[in-house]
Amino acid sequence: MSLDLILADLLLPLPTGEARQQQLSCLLKTAILSGRLPAGMRLPGSRQLAGDFRMARNGVLYAYQQLIAEGFLTADRGGTRVASLPLAASKALPAFPEHGVLSRRAGQLGAAHIGEALLPFAPGVADLNAFPWQAWARCLQAAWRMVSARHLAYAPTGGEPALRRSVASFLAARRGVNCTPEQVFIVPGGQVALDACARLLADPGDLVWLEQPCYQTARNAMLAAGLRVQHVAVDHDGMAPAPALWQSCPPRLIYLTPAHQYPTGSVLSLARRLDFLNRLSPGEHWLIEDDYDSEFNHARAGSRPLPAMQGLHPDAPVIYTGTFSKLLYPGLRIAYLVVPRWAVPAFGEALASLYRGGQAVEQRALAQFLDSGRLTRHVREMAGVYRTRQQVLREALHSHFGPAVKITGGQAGLHLTLYLPDAPPDEHIVEAAAGQGIAVRALSRYFPDGGGDNGLVLGYGMADAAHIPALVERLARAVRGI
Ligand SMILES: Cc1ncc(COP(=O)(O)O)c(C=O)c1O
Repeated sequence: MSLDLILADLLLPLPTGEARQQQLSCLLKTAILSGRLPAGMRLPGSRQLAGDFRMARNGVLYAYQQLIAEGFLTADRGGTRVASLPLAASKALPAFPEHGVLSRRAGQLGAAHIGEALLPFAPGVADLNAFPWQAWARCLQAAWRMVSARHLAYAPTGGEPALRRSVASFLAARRGVNCTPEQVFIVPGGQVALDACARLLADPGDLVWLEQPCYQTARNAMLAAGLRVQHVAVDHDGMAPAPALWQSCPPRLIYLTPAHQYPTGSVLSLARRLDFLNRLSPGEHWLIEDDYDSEFNHARAGSRPLPAMQGLHPDAPVIYTGTFSKLLYPGLRIAYLVVPRWAVPAFGEALASLYRGGQAVEQRALAQFLDSGRLTRHVREMAGVYRTRQQVLREALHSHFGPAVKITGGQAGLHLTLYLPDAPPDEHIVEAAAGQGIAVRALSRYFPDGGGDNGLVLGYGMADAAHIPALVERLARAVRGI
């Protein structure tokens, strides 16, 4: 095929102006990469090509120069030619590989649930309509007024000093965490906190104990880091490892949600907390204490939630972690890790080599939000609202699924777990409920390979108490209709 025919085929129809130059260079590049314009072929002079295709000569010159600069064409006294390029590899690429797109580890990860957050009963979502955005906007404005170039650069590892101080005193006052601000590391979300723990505290192939059932994102972080997983069943008092397991399957990492097990809601008993702490050896083990939603405490009047394990033994190899996703809003992406004193230098250095910090302005705004007492007020107000919603949800579940139906959790947080051993598979219920605009989660999905209790995890953060009975009735109807 002659060059003219190839070019004619390439060049028609072309848009006008600058886009025409861009398209000419793009078409020539595509033809070179596909081998249709072979190495060494001489291209027409710019004047001729411009005349043939009714475009400005400058446009052709521009396209040629761009391709010369990128290495697709060469130019000498003899004219402009197609460069000699190693094209075999790019030609051999299959168009759409079916296997091996991602790593094998990536294929083991459980699904995320992003789109459902605003639907009623989506677990783990705070009431985003109740977020005090005017007060928050004032803090942000104040933070922006004080901004300097330093706040726009990468942030120092660990986060803004002001926020580290505020978080340390907030956690001391509300969760009995015993730490200095230097032990607090601010990270962009609880997910990153877990990812950092998995990658910095253990090596690929090390064993991690996970609660069964378990928070899927924690499991994903551990699997993506190449850790081997040992699931340990949870009962009414939290994770219950047999003493022999410490010898037969010694863990490098243990991941726990002691204040409100996710998803069953059990609270790790004091005896078990002490047993874990007594068995941990620095340098041998790490325990990750994920305290994701215990700020919303619904324990009976007069009783307080058990304080953090970290405070029981501040020098134990425990990393305490929490998030502002439930207290404020998940899009904020601010969470924290509290590291034992003796691990601060090494952890800080490793964290800095893995992630760059940012969000200095938001972090300063958040420090002010905490220091002014606005966060504590918001949490106190919302804890009351959530307590009512939980009570209404519990009553509605009993009335539509039977007075004896098993419901667990509720000492803290934003969700309840409903057990439906005789109902159709929970995955089918989830699908039927989604058809009704309800976003419950299948309990079986929290177990490895989906083979666990049949039931539902229901969040009440976004469900208005007045609407809960009708929503539960709709859910019950969806279950009966399967
Ligand atoms: C058990 C548990 N831990 C940690 C988190 C961390 O949340 P985020 O990544 O939004 O900070 C969540 C959020 O849903 C959670 O459910």
